[in-house]
Amino acid sequence: MKFGLRERLIVTYLILAILGVGGLSIRFALLEKARIIDATEHELEVKAFTIATAIGSPLEKFSENELAYTDFKQTLDRLAHTAEARLTVLTVPGDPIYDSALDFRQLENQRRQIEVQQALQGLEQHQIRRDPLSGEERLYAAAIVQQESSPQGVVQLSISTAPMHAQIQREWLALGGSALAIIFVIVIASWWLARYILRPIFQLQHAAHGMAKGDFSQHIPDKGTDELADLARAFNDMASQLNEMIVKQRLFVANASHELRTPLTNIKLRAETLLDGAYSDPTVSDKFLHDIESESERMEKLVKNLLTLSRLDIQTEPDTLVPIKPCSLLKTVVSAFSPQAAQKQISLSLTCNNLPPINANREQLHRVFDNLLSNALKYSPPGSQISLSATASPTEIIFTVSDTGFGIPAQDLPHIFDRFYRVDKARTRTADPGGTGLGLSIVQRIIRSHGGQINVTSQPGQGTTFVIRLPRHPR
Ligand SMILES: Nc1ncnc2c1ncn2[C@@H]1O[C@H](COP(=O)(O)OP(=O)(O)OP(=O)(O)O)[C@@H](O)[C@H]1O
Ligand SMILES: [Mg+2]
Repeated sequence: MKFGLRERLIVTYLILAILGVGGLSIRFALLEKARIIDATEHELEVKAFTIATAIGSPLEKFSENELAYTDFKQTLDRLAHTAEARLTVLTVPGDPIYDSALDFRQLENQRRQIEVQQALQGLEQHQIRRDPLSGEERLYAAAIVQQESSPQGVVQLSISTAPMHAQIQREWLALGGSALAIIFVIVIASWWLARYILRPIFQLQHAAHGMAKGDFSQHIPDKGTDELADLARAFNDMASQLNEMIVKQRLFVANASHELRTPLTNIKLRAETLLDGAYSDPTVSDKFLHDIESESERMEKLVKNLLTLSRLDIQTEPDTLVPIKPCSLLKTVVSAFSPQAAQKQISLSLTCNNLPPINANREQLHRVFDNLLSNALKYSPPGSQISLSATASPTEIIFTVSDTGFGIPAQDLPHIFDRFYRVDKARTRTADPGGTGLGLSIVQRIIRSHGGQINVTSQPGQGTTFVIRLPRHPR
């Protein structure tokens, strides 16, 4: 048999039950034994006393020879018979003059026996000892016989202890039987209790095994306020998050394949057309070759971005952090983009004054502003303005990249950081070499790994503003 949690619980209950019920039973058995012995002794003493009272006058008469021994003996036989005990009558010095079981002449002087000694002093005392003649264990009691407050003799009563022991044994058996019954009931109850207590754990185990086999749609009952319900909730959370991650992952792979397939198909179609003879027409072949070049560039960019994303996904924190001065970083980016801006007749402005450094990975932070600025340029018509600025709060450096371009419709705004999300696929695809929809997700990934936040606000037709908050370099 597998020694699992349930078995361990039941064995624990069993040990506790045996200790508890067993301990109580033993205590009770000892008390019961003492009670039975006490009661028997008391009964015998009362009988001895009654007989002693009854034979006061016959004994006196017998001693004074006013009563024949046979009559005296008859009285005593009757008393002994009613008392259901062996009756011995002793003289004050302890010599037996009557015994209901034996010939009294066989008996020794009984004066030395403790119950006789005590009885002569008017006290009650019993003793359990072996009868020297039969060798049997007996309980003895005695009482003084008095007539007008002068001692006439002693009544000695004894019974075999065997019936008393038999009674004790019967009581003990009954007690043991009930103890076993109670333990049995406890075992049955603990079996059910263990099932009840462990059910959530078995459910969890089952669900976890299911998950290990790749079924992530696991949900276990998690109602309640105890620790197990808490565990179940944590498990369900984990399962649904994993499920969500896997769905996202599949979507990502599907999207990536689709995005890569389109340029590949374009390239293949054009190459086939050229091979079919179009290469002899210089205008067509020129255009097709350019198309092939731009599609290849697009694919190259896509693959580069995918690589960047997967590299960012692998690492949880950026490595090689260095203190970077925000203003000089922005200056570098602005001067890199000014030729493109000038060409598109877009003005670029920068507001930044001597700010404290931030701890960041230089290459990654560069990529952030690169992507934001190229977006601003790409999605703004000629004549627009792009402004960059940075300010410091006590704990953060706040960057804004703002343009007066096309803006983003409200329904698209929550999705623009999603991988492959583009507001207007047709529009951006035609831009040369076309967006991949990965730029902003890379930006967000970098900012988050730096412990920062990025937010966007936009008005279609008015422009877009990105705000980035990064923690200040701790001093
Ligand atoms: N400054 C902006 N103004 C208007 N729309 C923007 C702006 N920045 C981003 N968007 C919209 O958000 C979408 C997602 O931007 P993202 O940078 O992730 O992708 P992309 O620019 O299309 O591709 P990539 O950056 O890989 O070339 C864009 O397709 C564009 O529609
Ligand atoms: Mg972009």
